[in-house]
Amino acid sequence: SPPAYYKNVIVSKPDPAVALITLNRPNALNALNAAHFDDISSALREADEDPTIGAMVITGSDKAFAAGADIKEMKDKTFAEAYMSNFLANWEVIAKLRKPVIAAVSGYALGGGLELALQADILLAAPSAKLGQPEINLGVIPGGGGTQRLARLIGKSRTMEMVLTGRIIDAEEAERWGLVNKVVREESGVVDAAIKLAREVASKSRVAVVAGKEAVNAAFELSLSEGLRFERRLFHSLFATEDQKEGMTAFVEKRKPKWTHS
Ligand code: CAA
Repeated sequence: SPPAYYKNVIVSKPDPAVALITLNRPNALNALNAAHFDDISSALREADEDPTIGAMVITGSDKAFAAGADIKEMKDKTFAEAYMSNFLANWEVIAKLRKPVIAAVSGYALGGGLELALQADILLAAPSAKLGQPEINLGVIPGGGGTQRLARLIGKSRTMEMVLTGRIIDAEEAERWGLVNKVVREESGVVDAAIKLAREVASKSRVAVVAGKEAVNAAFELSLSEGLRFERRLFHSLFATEDQKEGMTAFVEKRKPKWTHS
């Protein structure tokens, strides 16, 4: 059952090692106001710090993953208010988590909603997914990382088209563009598929998983030679773990490894 202190998200454990965070502000299509966002980031951080959790899934409703930042809440902000409060700076929360996050996207993922999903490590979409950066229609631009993360993910011209026209793309186009890993067409649905994937990731050595995520993310920050060096050093460091000894010994002994996450 969800902790009483989260008003706008439901936290559950569909598997002992998986936390499922469901955005739950249905009458605003999960538009992200400050209170909602605080709940999302606290729930994610709590799961990230929980030693029993190996991976997180974030999802919304069938109709909307999240329809963006809350337009009603921000419409009267002045430049000074936005600037001095560093509006949206706290949106980097998912990107800063150390354990993997899988986003299960159904329905609308627009503006800040897509920017939230783009911070996940793996994106799965339902056939109903509609993704876009419609901020241009509000007289602004994406402010939660959309221009940067999309450009790295799907390239300049596709990003320009999305950001400059606000066109909303469907699940199939998102899959073709490599914006999502895949469209889940099975009856059991996208959340189930995401939980399954999270359970698989959570079944691995947690030390190795965190290192793998850290190394892949370095590819977006470092030059190739720096990135390769960073990867190699992390790889070297894993020889100091029990799980490396166990994993390689288990292979040689033709048995399944038993991870201790140490
Ligand atoms: N902010 C505040 N409220 C929102 C919202 C948002 N982003 N998106 C939807 N809602 C509210 C609607 O105002 C409506 O509330 P009321 O019933 O009180 O009027 C309720 O959610 C249901 O929405 P609709 O009646 O509009 O539902 P629909 O099915 O007709 O349309 C939609 C769905 C196409 C997603 C439409 O709601 C829409 O265009 N939403 C805005 C999308 C958008 O522009 N997002 C970008 C926001 S800016 C941003 O995110 C900046 C950033 O980079 C961080």
